Amino acid sequence: MSPNLIENTVIFVKKKLDGVEAGHDWFHIERVWKISKKIAEEEKCNLQVVELAALLHDIADPKFHDGDETLALKISREFLEGQSVSTEIIDQVLFIIQNISFKNRREVPAVLPIELQIVQDADRLDAIGAIGIARTFNFGGFKNNLMYHPELPPRINQSKDDYKKSNGTTVNHFYEKLLLLKDLMNTDSGKKLAEERHDFMLLFLDQFYREWNVE
Ligand code: ADP
Ligand code: NI
Repeated sequence: MSPNLIENTVIFVKKKLDGVEAGHDWFHIERVWKISKKIAEEEKCNLQVVELAALLHDIADPKFHDGDETLALKISREFLEGQSVSTEIIDQVLFIIQNISFKNRREVPAVLPIELQIVQDADRLDAIGAIGIARTFNFGGFKNNLMYHPELPPRINQSKDDYKKSNGTTVNHFYEKLLLLKDLMNTDSGKKLAEERHDFMLLFLDQFYREWNVE
């Protein structure tokens, strides 16, 4: 295995994500990598698996690749094999990439490997709080969605089809996903870090509605 594996991965990921939407760019990866390392300090885990998975988890997001769910796995496997990483480590990293997503949360096994729990918490933490708000509005703008519509009240846990035909507004994404993440944290440190970020989103929404309604 290359002694500069993590550095090489950083270079590879930076190059691959050049020009992608700002919420899923290298800086998102860098934040998730940093948060993952922070959470990992409190857990007994394989740090190398954590770091590789954090760095590679959004290498080819299906959202930006015609829904292709296998591309990220293929790209990651080829890269890691090129770095002579062991099959055992590659399999663990790919398992995390495959199962980290919020969308796939119902299909994963009941007990998750600790490395997956850590990177998933880090990815979810970057989806909430001030950064989460910024990413969400950036993504909504990228998709040309409405920020909010007063006649389309937010609805919790609606199906994807309902979401598309009803209110694909950015504010609705808070109710569809962001406000649910706090209770989906795996690790104790993830839970702790999520609290402040969650409360900030509630404060933001409250202020948003007050300004919208010119109260
Ligand atoms: P996951 O990979 O966990 O399913 P996504 O990549 O879909 O998560 O979402 C990551 C971030 O992208 C969200 O937290 C949000 O900031 C943004 N995002 C995704 N879907 C939407 C949407 N419909 N409206 C606004 N932002 C979105
Ligand atoms: Ni991500």
